[in-house]
Amino acid sequence: MLSAIVTALYASSIAQGSVIPKLNELLKIGTQEDIFPYLAGDAPYFSYPGDYGIPIDAPETCEMSQVQLIARHGERYPSKSRGRKIFNTWYKISNYTSTFNGSLSFLNDDYEFFIQDLDDLEQETTLENSVNPLNPYTGEMDAKLHARQFLEQYSDLLENNTEFSAFTTNSRRVYDTAEWFVEALGPNFNITMEVIDEEPSAGANTISAGYSCPAWDEEAFSNITDAYSDDYLKDIAKRLNKENPGLNLTTTDSFMLFSWCAFEISARGYSDVCEVFTQEELIKYSYYDDLSNYYSDGPGYPLIKDVGANLFNATVELLKQSDKLNQSVWLSFTHDTDILNYLTTIGLFDDGRPLNATHVPFRDHAFRKSWQVPMGARVYTQKFQCSNSSYVRYVVNDAVIPIESCSSGPGFSCPEDDFYDYAESRLQNLDFVTACNVTSVSNTTQLTYYWDFNTTTYNSTLLDQ
Ligand SMILES: *[C@@H]1O[C@H](CO)[C@@H](O)[C@H](O)[C@H]1NC(C)=O
Ligand SMILES: *[C@@H]1O[C@H](CO)[C@@H](O)[C@H](O)[C@H]1NC(C)=O
Ligand SMILES: *[C@@H]1O[C@H](CO)[C@@H](O)[C@H](O)[C@H]1NC(C)=O
Ligand SMILES: *[C@@H]1O[C@H](CO)[C@@H](O)[C@H](O)[C@H]1NC(C)=O
Ligand SMILES: *[C@@H]1O[C@H](CO)[C@@H](O)[C@H](O)[C@H]1NC(C)=O
Ligand SMILES: *[C@@H]1O[C@H](CO)[C@@H](O)[C@H](O)[C@H]1NC(C)=O
Ligand SMILES: *[C@@H]1O[C@H](CO)[C@@H](O)[C@H](O)[C@H]1NC(C)=O
Ligand SMILES: *[C@@H]1O[C@H](CO)[C@@H](O)[C@H](O)[C@H]1NC(C)=O
Ligand SMILES: *[C@@H]1O[C@H](CO)[C@@H](O)[C@H](O)[C@H]1NC(C)=O
Ligand SMILES: *[C@@H]1O[C@H](CO)[C@@H](O)[C@H](O)[C@H]1NC(C)=O
Ligand SMILES: *[C@@H]1O[C@H](CO)[C@@H](O)[C@H](O)[C@H]1NC(C)=O
Ligand SMILES: *[C@@H]1O[C@H](CO)[C@@H](O)[C@H](O)[C@H]1NC(C)=O
Repeated sequence: MLSAIVTALYASSIAQGSVIPKLNELLKIGTQEDIFPYLAGDAPYFSYPGDYGIPIDAPETCEMSQVQLIARHGERYPSKSRGRKIFNTWYKISNYTSTFNGSLSFLNDDYEFFIQDLDDLEQETTLENSVNPLNPYTGEMDAKLHARQFLEQYSDLLENNTEFSAFTTNSRRVYDTAEWFVEALGPNFNITMEVIDEEPSAGANTISAGYSCPAWDEEAFSNITDAYSDDYLKDIAKRLNKENPGLNLTTTDSFMLFSWCAFEISARGYSDVCEVFTQEELIKYSYYDDLSNYYSDGPGYPLIKDVGANLFNATVELLKQSDKLNQSVWLSFTHDTDILNYLTTIGLFDDGRPLNATHVPFRDHAFRKSWQVPMGARVYTQKFQCSNSSYVRYVVNDAVIPIESCSSGPGFSCPEDDFYDYAESRLQNLDFVTACNVTSVSNTTQLTYYWDFNTTTYNSTLLDQ
């Protein structure tokens, strides 16, 4: 499929008269997909690597009755704050006056930095703003491909459901992703976009509960994560400085090289910077990302279950009401952190064993942040009916992830009533509004947009965040 896309793009860029990359650059596109799972969710989309092989279609003799999607925006440029840090490393490197040696020697060859326009920071990558007109990994293309897969996957359900509302936060990149997705569904659909505010004042009526949670302290467990060794970053800096005397890279620069590598792939289709790292360094970097997110946005931070409860509770209500509601397709677009929080409350990737900062655990390692929320991440809740019974299950990034304690239904799904018991036990003692101190930033203490969108206008102004 990739080669077909590249061929098509190549043809269209010739037609447009864009600059055509050299053949050796072209041949690099598609060769770095093996490392996407190690790049902290900053590289292009990839399917969940821990797939159990369970088909994602409704099991035979079953019919889909409701589908919910919680999706991350697609491939993008770095945020402003991350961009600033990557630029600092780039400045240091670009001011180096000697010839580069070793793995940085690609820089001698008229290298063009992948961020050309500061206005691209925070935004999706598109063919138009890509530094390479043959880049197959744009956020735009990802959203459109995803929509076409969705159309095929849920064709039966969609046949008689062509008019409905979709939900997006008012972050511009999230909104753009939602719009491309909807556009790619084609002209048979009439979809109204409900733009839900992600500012703290939205309180509980949000798809991005983290912003409404002033009690959230990212550093709450840095006493644990700080113990993780940064020797791998020192090694990288030492190696590059040895090859290039006077370059003076620091461990911060080493860390930023990983970001540069990941984001550049989404803007160029490949990144020579990625070749700087050994496989061991990629594993150590990737685990650091799992570890830090486990304790700041995941199961290692008890408050996170409260944060995710806001959305999880609402999605369970939608399942319970599926017979009454006249909408059976629920598409919602948001950020990675919000999806992590939601998955944490559901408990799909929590084996109860805390991640350890002193070593990389190879077996006790259920929580893999970048596998859960790569760019373009997509978490589906499927409700289907088989004979007279209904079942619920989750599909995360193209893989069915059964609920460990409830998978006796067809396709390792959870029988509906058992699912509600499970959900109730997960939600027990959780309280988003109180735990997060929501009322200090907003008087809105209920999530209502899935129910009142027909009578309330959701048209929040887009934000570049
Ligand atoms: C390097 O170059 C950039 C502009 O290209 C400049 O802003 C910066 O101050 C220079 N020096 C360092 C140490 O980054
Ligand atoms: C260039 O790097 C290689 C290792 O990649 C090293 O053996 C060589 O001494 C370096 N040359 C200079 C001039 O630093
Ligand atoms: C869609 O509606 C038509 C007309 O009511 C019906 O014949 C068809 O079976 C429905 N399709 C599905 C997949 O339910
Ligand atoms: C699309 O849906 C909107 C809102 O429900 C409605 O006002 C409009 O008439 C519909 N357009 C078409 C072409 O069906
Ligand atoms: C909750 O918000 C109030 C008002 O801003 C503040 O005084 C209090 O310290 C906050 N409590 C927590 C636990 O964050
Ligand atoms: C880390 O800090 C938290 C409070 O933020 C505390 O509950 C926990 O016991 C501390 N852990 C260690 C290993 O010091
Ligand atoms: C690197 O550090 C050395 C020693 O501190 C210093 O002399 C040199 O100017 C630095 N190089 C750059 C590019 O900053
Ligand atoms: C869960 O959702 C229902 C329906 O929207 C709502 O009535 C209830 O208050 C919610 N529970 C929590 C804890 O938010
Ligand atoms: C991490 O593993 C070490 C042994 O490698 C052990 O001593 C320590 O207690 C573990 N820490 C946690 C938080 O599990
Ligand atoms: C909540 O409502 C009260 C009364 O209308 C108002 O005074 C207060 O500022 C509001 N608080 C927030 C955080 O919006
Ligand atoms: C919302 O309004 C549209 C058009 O008025 C209607 O077709 C649809 O059934 C309503 N949806 C809900 C969930 O009430
Ligand atoms: C949203 O819609 C309301 C009601 O139609 C309107 O008054 C308001 O100006 C709109 N806001 C934006 C940002 O478009």
